[in-house]
Amino acid sequence: MSERRTPDAEIAYNSLKQAEPGLPAAWYYDPDQHAREIRTLWRGNWLYVCRSDELSAALSYRTFEIGDQNIVIVRASGGALNAFHNACRHRGSILCTEHAGQLKSKLLVCPYHQWSYAAGSGDLVRTSSFAEPDGFSKADYPLFKVACAEWRGSVFIHLDPSAVFDEKDVFNRSAENFRNFPLETMVTGYTWKTQIACNWKTFWENFNECLHCPNVHPELVELVPLFTRRIINPKDVPDWQDHEGSADPKFRGGMRGGGETWSSDGSAQGHTIAQLTPEDLERGHTYCSIWPNVFIGGYPDHVRIVRLHPVGPEETELTAEWLFLPETLAAEGYDISNVVDFGKLVMEQDATACELNQKGLHAAPLEHGVLMPEEYVLHRFHTWVRDGLA
Ligand code: FES
Ligand SMILES: [Fe+2]
Repeated sequence: MSERRTPDAEIAYNSLKQAEPGLPAAWYYDPDQHAREIRTLWRGNWLYVCRSDELSAALSYRTFEIGDQNIVIVRASGGALNAFHNACRHRGSILCTEHAGQLKSKLLVCPYHQWSYAAGSGDLVRTSSFAEPDGFSKADYPLFKVACAEWRGSVFIHLDPSAVFDEKDVFNRSAENFRNFPLETMVTGYTWKTQIACNWKTFWENFNECLHCPNVHPELVELVPLFTRRIINPKDVPDWQDHEGSADPKFRGGMRGGGETWSSDGSAQGHTIAQLTPEDLERGHTYCSIWPNVFIGGYPDHVRIVRLHPVGPEETELTAEWLFLPETLAAEGYDISNVVDFGKLVMEQDATACELNQKGLHAAPLEHGVLMPEEYVLHRFHTWVRDGLA
């Protein structure tokens, strides 16, 4: 019990104080609404593409689809990363047909009539015609640029070429808690793709609350006792001051006694990230996210980056990447499946819940759901969706 309880004063806590209507149920399955969200929310925000080391070699490239937009990201010979619409300025053909590869020269060459563009600038270098007609200047036909940024070993794009990646603005859950994670030098040890039969917003709603945790994630709540209380932060309840300073993880957060990381047996196998502080370790997990397409989870011995791809109104593809220190991956006897299996288990449990949620949203009389006190982040998310569409 804390001495600092002040019953007469207004105690700040996170929960919603009144019931809030959810988004219209049809927004989770209507194809026109989905197209509108792709045009506004997806094309209007920074999107995580991949880790920088996938594009480390000069002239390596990869493509990235968002809705009907196809983007190519190329590492120029000088080292800079550039992104362009993957479309030729002649008559529009796709330029790079593979998902990833290596250019043979410093040119991006259209496979149709061989117009060639400088990989570094996107400038049109040559056409294949015997002469350039009156009224044509190569300078008028560069590739359409897309903004591209590298942040701490990860690659992001924004379809607005004038967009600037500013860490302080881009993350809707601050990346500040990741300052001690050596994200730049961590390497991908395992990648997993899965498809969930749900709308992308259904995924984020589930991700942003723990009301579902005790019945959906029995293993996770055993590891993180706070989640048995169906909250994500100790300050999510009005009486949180009653337990301020408590060492009990059910109230302070963090892992159960003996728990070292998010893994099947709770052990970090002696590979806790050395740069993390005692506070980082005690917190046990830290998240940041950029809506609509990525969240990053940091744990004492690894990081997990999960990217969403909205395949259709009711189909979302997830790509999860587990990052480790190189020495952890190289260590003899380090069993990567201890953390990977645990992460997959939790994500599969969430996927099942999301699919049930998605199916039920079709009930003809259902206009929208309602948000309860613990769902304050969903309310923030809904506000972000509505504002972005406006
Ligand atoms: S469409 Fe690319 S060269 Fe013709
Ligand atoms: Fe969950």
